[in-house]
Amino acid sequence: MPGELVPADYFAPFNVEEIRSNGRPLEVDLGCGDGAFLLAMAREYPDRDFIGVERLLGRVRKLCKKITRSGLSNARILRLESRYTVEWLLPKNCVSRLHLLCPDPWPKYRHHRRRLMQNDFFEAVRQALEPGGEFLFMTDHEEYFHWACERMDAYGKFERLEWQEDTFFYPKTDFQMQWEAEGKSMWRLRCRKPINA
Ligand SMILES: C[S@@+](CC[C@H](N)C(=O)[O-])C[C@H]1O[C@@H](n2cnc3c(N)ncnc32)[C@H](O)[C@@H]1O
Repeated sequence: MPGELVPADYFAPFNVEEIRSNGRPLEVDLGCGDGAFLLAMAREYPDRDFIGVERLLGRVRKLCKKITRSGLSNARILRLESRYTVEWLLPKNCVSRLHLLCPDPWPKYRHHRRRLMQNDFFEAVRQALEPGGEFLFMTDHEEYFHWACERMDAYGKFERLEWQEDTFFYPKTDFQMQWEAEGKSMWRLRCRKPINA
């Protein structure tokens, strides 16, 4: 489908040139859903490349159509699982910003092990980010947020940065708009891979 990024090999990391043109900054949105955030970012930053990762075929199809209609050449969508993408397909030191926005909080205790925000995932994120690259996580789920922050602090290989709503341009995601309309507030975590890591 136009707008879709199809790996040449699902069992080896991408060649950097496949996903990032001429050394431009690359941003990856994990679980991009219907893509409102991805498209708004691609429109705002025509000099950066964007990849949305989404596992549901229906959402991928809709987003491919939106990308085609928008005429944006710097946004693509990868139909794949987020953790697999970060652990196995993203080359090391190549992502400028990695976004994880409103992921499933898996609220039941027995499902906590399915949560993305854990040690192995942090390590894969750190490896994929370029030095100085950032990881941004946002959720409406307060318990998941504190749970994730505890694990991030224990992991200890990122620097925490301030992130207020107006710190930089950051369009609202579909789920964020839905949850804010229900009166929920969002919890934000912004981390940086140290320059000398
Ligand atoms: C709650 S929605 C949030 C969508 C978007 N980030 C937003 O904030 O509007 C979560 C999205 O992530 C996708 N998703 C959930 N788990 C995933 C995974 N492991 N790999 C890829 N996509 C996933 C879901 O299909 C869904 O579209």
